Amino acid sequence: MIEFKNVTKEYPPNLVKEKKVAIKNASFEIKDGEFVILCGRSGAGKTTILKLISCEEKPSSGLIMFDDVNIAEIKKSNAYTIRQKIGFIFQDYKLLSYKTVYENVAYALEAFDFNESLVKEEVMQVLELVGLESKINCLPRELSGGEQQRVSIARALIHRPKIILADEPTGNLDPYHTRDIIKILLKINESGSTVILSTHSKEIVNLLEKRVITLEDGRIIRDEEKGVFSL
Ligand SMILES: Nc1ncnc2c1ncn2[C@@H]1O[C@H](COP(=O)(O)OP(=O)(O)OP(=O)(O)O)[C@@H](O)[C@H]1O
Ligand SMILES: [Mg+2]
Repeated sequence: MIEFKNVTKEYPPNLVKEKKVAIKNASFEIKDGEFVILCGRSGAGKTTILKLISCEEKPSSGLIMFDDVNIAEIKKSNAYTIRQKIGFIFQDYKLLSYKTVYENVAYALEAFDFNESLVKEEVMQVLELVGLESKINCLPRELSGGEQQRVSIARALIHRPKIILADEPTGNLDPYHTRDIIKILLKINESGSTVILSTHSKEIVNLLEKRVITLEDGRIIRDEEKGVFSL
């Protein structure tokens, strides 16, 4: 479970000494196994919320409970215990250009001391889930955008995270590939993982009919089950 209680996030002042309040007094709860859409215009605070959950940023005030740990107060050196439970999917894929599809996914297991055959088994399992078993020896540049995003989803899934944070994962894709990625996220959610998806796409919000938390200028202005796009 994830709970935000009166969370405010101020970024440090910039060169002209303006402080940016990216999240203003946000409170919400996300239960295990939910599929939640974070919706809002550019700059509304979607990525900031995801970074607060993954301990990449700390809130300026408020409480963020991740299961029974207040991660607002977690030490930097302990943040990995939270990150192990999270798979992050980015808009720009962040694949290693000189590694093959297989290696990009296997790389994420390097920190674990698994033997080669176990690594192969795990990697092939997630690549099958995203439908890329025939592309294991390709380099990222030999793949379409949708295929590259599927590699990054496989990489995010490899350590079997409890929670998937997907930050505008279809922002660079055409509608056909977008549907593919959304279907995979639904499949992951059906297998038990919590999915938090940020988007500003009306089509995605209306297609999914899932809970929608709408942000406007850092504030939560709506939180609705089976939400529709209304910005
Ligand atoms: N590291 C930072 N330092 C200062 N301000 C920041 C930083 N990161 C984000 N911001 C500001 O915080 C606000 C929220 O940014 P955020 O990236 O969370 O928005 P977003 O909803 O993800 O937007 P987009 O749809 O464009 O990705 C923006 O006004 C942004 O300029
Ligand atoms: Mg963003």
